[in-house]
Amino acid sequence: MTITTSADVPVSDYDPYDDANLLDPWEGYRQLRDAGPIVWLRKYEMYAATRYSTVRRVLEDWQTWSSAYGVMMNDEMNQVLRGNTLCSDGADHDALRRAVIRPLRPTSLKALSDDITREAVLITERLVARGRFDAVTELAHHLPLAVVSNMVGLPEEGREHMLVWASEMFNCFGPRNERTVSAFPVLEEMVNYAATQAVRGKLKPGSWAEALHDAADRGEVPREAVPVMMIDYMGPSLDTTIFAIANAVDLFARHPDQWDLVRADPSLIPGAVNEVLRLESPIQDFSRYSVQDYDLEGITIPAGSRAIAFYGAGNRDEREFVEPDTFDVRRNPRNHLGFGAGPHQCVGMNLARMEMNALFTELARRVERFEIQDSRRSLHNILRGFDRLEVTVS
Ligand code: HEM
Repeated sequence: MTITTSADVPVSDYDPYDDANLLDPWEGYRQLRDAGPIVWLRKYEMYAATRYSTVRRVLEDWQTWSSAYGVMMNDEMNQVLRGNTLCSDGADHDALRRAVIRPLRPTSLKALSDDITREAVLITERLVARGRFDAVTELAHHLPLAVVSNMVGLPEEGREHMLVWASEMFNCFGPRNERTVSAFPVLEEMVNYAATQAVRGKLKPGSWAEALHDAADRGEVPREAVPVMMIDYMGPSLDTTIFAIANAVDLFARHPDQWDLVRADPSLIPGAVNEVLRLESPIQDFSRYSVQDYDLEGITIPAGSRAIAFYGAGNRDEREFVEPDTFDVRRNPRNHLGFGAGPHQCVGMNLARMEMNALFTELARRVERFEIQDSRRSLHNILRGFDRLEVTVS
């Protein structure tokens, strides 16, 4: 990677969205971090925030670093999601977030806990008895599809499409490249569906999606925001957790000593989940748009700039984490950026944690070793994980 400096800003030709770099981003991230607190990516005409401290500052300072201009790396997509929870600021964001988070608060999630545990027991018993399975399609898909998609409550046909829609939606978050462009038609299908099918009378009674219409009836959120708010559930509720579960299986398979620690002391599981999300963050990056000039350690970033916040790079910053590339289930990095930070920090994190804790508690009871037989990493603009992860268990 060549890095030069112009007007005090390090400038790089590095392309984080090139196939090879998507599959193995760590060395590129390290060089960007070492180059300075923020680096100008010439190819994309955007800044890259890769140090932990910079990513956190960008995410927390919403008055400078707006989400309302979109958090994606291309203009078309920033138009499409305008006005949903993810892409809003200040009081507007607070109102939308209050409605979206309601079923996802720890107190509301208590009602789901038994279902999640029951399904976790069922799937681990079934797969462990078989001895070989795909940790993506057979293990990681199960809880999000069996429990979460039901709670979101789309009509049946929509539920079937949620996985494809979500994955393609996240591809559209990237800069305009082939992956983004080929995903646009699928995204369009998802947005049309949200507007025409995720409507009263078609949604499951008592579902989270229906509750968004109720919030509009009570005047808590603008009625015209409801279709695009559906995407706050349809986009991130399944795929993110699926990627996280498979990433965890991959890490435990490659680090049997860490799996032994978890098996010997299951109270380590919640911390191990944090460690998985730190080391292999399922969402690697979103962006922000600056609405005023910003001084970052002597570098002036002008208003009207876009900065990509690389959660995945901040999570491997040795300025924040000791031996950041080491998988250590005893580290419990509560401050990781895998769920973001600041006002947009993930509303679904308690649910995702609940699913992962339940699943790995049951696996720890039944599995001594995971062995990877075959795998294929996803080549994806934003998500990091696997399309296939075939394992045997003993
Ligand atoms: C392991 C699983 C998950 C990961 C790694 C993850 C990651 C993230 C990240 C990084 C953000 C921050 C976005 C930003 O900075 O702009 C976020 C926000 C969000 N997440 Fe998650 N997420 C997960 C699961 C979920 C689930 C299960 C749901 C819904 C049921 C969900 C719904 C949302 C929503 C609606 C936002 C936007 C919040 C806001 O803008 O205020 N996520 N997530």
